[in-house]
Amino acid sequence: ITPRKPIIAIDGPAGAGKSTVTKQVANKLGLLFLDTGAMYRSVTLAVLREGIDLRDRDKVREIAAKSKIQLFANPIAGKPMQVLLNGEDVTTEIRTPEVTANVSSIAAQAGVREILVKQQQMIGQTGGVVMEGRDIGTHVFPDAEVKIFLTASAGERAKRRQADLIAQGQVAPDLATLEREIQERDRKDSTRDHSPLVKSEDATLVNTDGLSIEEVVAAIVNLYEQKVQNP
Ligand code: DC
Repeated sequence: ITPRKPIIAIDGPAGAGKSTVTKQVANKLGLLFLDTGAMYRSVTLAVLREGIDLRDRDKVREIAAKSKIQLFANPIAGKPMQVLLNGEDVTTEIRTPEVTANVSSIAAQAGVREILVKQQQMIGQTGGVVMEGRDIGTHVFPDAEVKIFLTASAGERAKRRQADLIAQGQVAPDLATLEREIQERDRKDSTRDHSPLVKSEDATLVNTDGLSIEEVVAAIVNLYEQKVQNP
């Protein structure tokens, strides 16, 4: 068995800048990257389309099991990963307010997590990947060489979310509404029974308030070089 290449786990709440940072770190180090949130969003979209009760765990699990999710790096810099759900491009649709409002209930279900975590472990089994999510350092790859817990204040995250939505050509709610939504999603993500959003003890905490993307990327690349190249 060839030992796997290193893994960088980037966890943290919504709007901390994980996606941008993950992609840039991967590009700088020549690694692959994976946005695991897009997978939970895809299952949520599939469930919403079937029109079933989101609380029906058996049916939701069934849908998760039969959904084929494929992720590709977006060739356009700064754009989210391209996502196919059963062969259909759902890159934009998984980011609508409807999916965003319902994804926490789907991500809280153990059956769904079990299926997606297995897929994430398969994708990362040979390493050489920067994986972003909520439970990468705690559950998906607890042995990741570099673990980052990326965070920012709720106010800062609301501002970034608003700018993202506008950039995507969507109608952006006002800042107070976004901040409330972010706090509500944080609360659900960090108090759920299965794999709640918590900082792994051995993760490095990075608060991105007032830091530029370049500064955050440089800090993570530095950490990687210290741990992986000069262990
Ligand atoms: O990062 P994001 O906003 O696209 O994530 C969407 C949702 O999926 C969010 O409510 C948290 C959840 N999620 C999760 O529970 N575990 C992950 N590894 C990634 C995302």
